[in-house]
Amino acid sequence: MARKIFIAGNWKMNTNLEEARALSQSIVDVLGNTTDVDIAVCPPYTNLSAVNDIIKGSAIKLGAQDVYWEESGAFTGKVSCDMLKSAGVTYVIIGHSEQRTYFGETDETVNKKVKAALSSGLLPIICVGETLEERKSGKMDSVIDRQVKGAFEGLSSDDALKCTIAYEPIWAIGTGETATPQQANDVHKFIRNIISQIFSEEIAQAIRIQYGGSMKPDNAKALLEQSDVDGGLIGGAALKASSFAGIVNPA
Ligand code: 13P
Repeated sequence: MARKIFIAGNWKMNTNLEEARALSQSIVDVLGNTTDVDIAVCPPYTNLSAVNDIIKGSAIKLGAQDVYWEESGAFTGKVSCDMLKSAGVTYVIIGHSEQRTYFGETDETVNKKVKAALSSGLLPIICVGETLEERKSGKMDSVIDRQVKGAFEGLSSDDALKCTIAYEPIWAIGTGETATPQQANDVHKFIRNIISQIFSEEIAQAIRIQYGGSMKPDNAKALLEQSDVDGGLIGGAALKASSFAGIVNPA
């Protein structure tokens, strides 16, 4: 089954309101009519609505970088699915390694967020990935297996199909070090195999798996050519329209 390439920009904690407006406008200018690749931008919460006003009517979709699973109430600092939806959000990144490393995200909280997102109609981008130490000590497979199974625990096949997985080796994030196309493809195949065990081969073949970690215009083509790499979750290179477009174009 052909999987449509999906490129998403994770802006992380970058861009104030003016910068977010300018960046999203220049992305619309260069990529706004692109329909053969799915494209999303994920600005900080404070800029979602303003970016939505700019990308509305173009092919670019809006994503958020996190969400909280409760519907409303006394959860200072948190943002709900309904709030994201009302700001125009389609996708939500869940379980990014920076959330796991700095803010106490666990496989269990990832699963709660994924379920909340799906029940409100948001499409999760679920991040998994190993540290360098885990890779070197041979623990990579068990770490990824645990993260994928944890995230998808209790989901129906229909819900699983609405998810994208982003494989982001932690040692490649923001370091300039990229997984080789072969390394990335091997892990993507491994992840697809886990999905096939949980659900079915059909679901495993349909679900999209993005690569993330120092993806740039000069390495995007080789990564995206791999059989099991279905797109990218881009950090640093998503902060300029020209480099973001330089990744979307080979896709
Ligand atoms: P970089 O592209 O800056 O390495 O970041 C990748 C990432 O973490 C995307 O979510």
